[in-house]
Amino acid sequence: MENTADTLAIRPESKGDIDAIRKLNKKAFKGNNESKLIDALRESDIFVPALSLVAEKGGKIVGHILFTPVEIKDANSAAPALALAPMAVLPEFQEQGIGTALVKRGLEECRKLGHKIVVVVGHPEYYPRFGFSKAGEKGLTLPFEAPPEVFMVLELTPGALAGVSGMIEYPREFDAVT
Ligand SMILES: CC(C)(COP(=O)(O)OP(=O)(O)OC[C@H]1O[C@@H](n2cnc3c(N)ncnc32)[C@H](O)[C@@H]1OP(=O)(O)O)[C@@H](O)C(=O)NCCC(=O)NCCS
Repeated sequence: MENTADTLAIRPESKGDIDAIRKLNKKAFKGNNESKLIDALRESDIFVPALSLVAEKGGKIVGHILFTPVEIKDANSAAPALALAPMAVLPEFQEQGIGTALVKRGLEECRKLGHKIVVVVGHPEYYPRFGFSKAGEKGLTLPFEAPPEVFMVLELTPGALAGVSGMIEYPREFDAVT
């Protein structure tokens, strides 16, 4: 179907989207950190192309979301999880439900690939609507300082966090932005 101005398509990024993703992250975050992080992750072994999704409206890339594999580690165990980071919608397209569509579709894709746990460090008023709750209360910690309410976790399958606790180990590409 033709992508008219009225239709919103959510799909995995393709090569031709890379520059638009870079630009929209710079605009939404008013800086380069997140666009550099995405570029670095894309070059890394852990990048999952199916979990880098764009929102396209009228042929224009207006939003992006990325999920990256992380580990939840304690002294005795390591559990796989995904980190939702970053996500952005072009300022002039915000407050239209595009971010919601990206998160919902993104979480569906994570589930389809068999992932069970997603963590996010972000707006505490935004992510609970998708089922995220405070990760500290579930025994998870961050390797950097952050207010407790911004660190959230979602079980994609019920009970996924049973027996799981520890610190999130992010890929080293995150070091530059945390
Ligand atoms: C956060 C962001 C991705 C949301 O995208 P969006 O398309 O505007 O989201 P939606 O239209 O689906 O939802 C809008 C909701 O997000 C909330 N929201 C937007 N920015 C927010 C912020 N900085 N803090 C808290 N809530 C925020 C709005 O208040 C609105 O809430 P409501 O539905 O209760 O009115 C977008 O505002 C953005 O790109 N912001 C700049 C980059 C950023 O902060 N990314 C997230 C990092 S955690």
